[in-house]
Amino acid sequence: MSESITDAGTIRFVDVYKSFRGGRDAVLKGLSADFPAGKLTYILGPSGVGKSVTIKHILGLLRPDAGDVWVSGKNMSTLSGRELAEHRKIFGMLFQNSALFDDMTIFENVAFPLREHTTLSESAIADKVTRSLSILGMKNGYDKFPNELSGGMKKRVALARAIIREPQILLYDEPTTGLDPVTRVTVDELIETLKREYRLTSLVISHDIPSALRLADQIAFLQDGKFVFWGTPEEFKNAQNDVIRRFLDADRMSFRVLQ
Ligand SMILES: Nc1ncnc2c1ncn2[C@@H]1O[C@H](COP(=O)(O)OP(=O)(O)O)[C@@H](O)[C@H]1O
Ligand SMILES: [Mg+2]
Repeated sequence: MSESITDAGTIRFVDVYKSFRGGRDAVLKGLSADFPAGKLTYILGPSGVGKSVTIKHILGLLRPDAGDVWVSGKNMSTLSGRELAEHRKIFGMLFQNSALFDDMTIFENVAFPLREHTTLSESAIADKVTRSLSILGMKNGYDKFPNELSGGMKKRVALARAIIREPQILLYDEPTTGLDPVTRVTVDELIETLKREYRLTSLVISHDIPSALRLADQIAFLQDGKFVFWGTPEEFKNAQNDVIRRFLDADRMSFRVLQ
């Protein structure tokens, strides 16, 4: 496949295999997938099934044993270390624990990727930081430190930092796991805002079925090394796969317990 502008923001897995411990732990077993540019895809599946491993292949942190991972027109396996470092600017990533630098102000946290990777002037940096924090609903308090912020505010800052270099692809690995319900809703709203404001390819790894049903353009369900389901939220609700049914039933049960 040649590199072309039409490939910007697309992610394609072609028959990817990955195992650990000398082949004893087979995690991805012929995984194929197309994540179209500009769409929001939720990847659901049981714990330990290989969701994070999948994301690490997209970032080029892991290489397939066999098969290919194409990201924005580039075959990740063929990139040199330097090309990979250059290529990584197309990604924004939100980690579970926000991963902010505790000894830097909010402003400096968000400015950090620009200082590391660009030669922008101070005023250009200030413009970008302000714009990106404002889009995420944070209009002031940029001189505060992360430990002065609520969980929801920390997520806003972490997301502002993730988008500061205007990535094509935004990856979220369990953005709401371990959060209280209010903060969870905040994060959902942030995901929705970014989807609206930027034409980003977004991938969310999650256990949060109500969020997936509400926000996703498409849902992919990973099981036994492959995507066994791929479709719209509506199709997901009606999927006949046993594991998915158990997933949905367990979610409904926990919802009832909360009521
Ligand atoms: N770097 C690694 N070395 C060895 N095993 C790993 C590595 N990364 C992941 N695994 C294994 O791969 C499996 C899938 O892990 P992971 O993708 O983290 O699951 P999840 O779907 O919960 O995100 C697990 O059994 C995990 O122990
Ligand atoms: Mg994981």
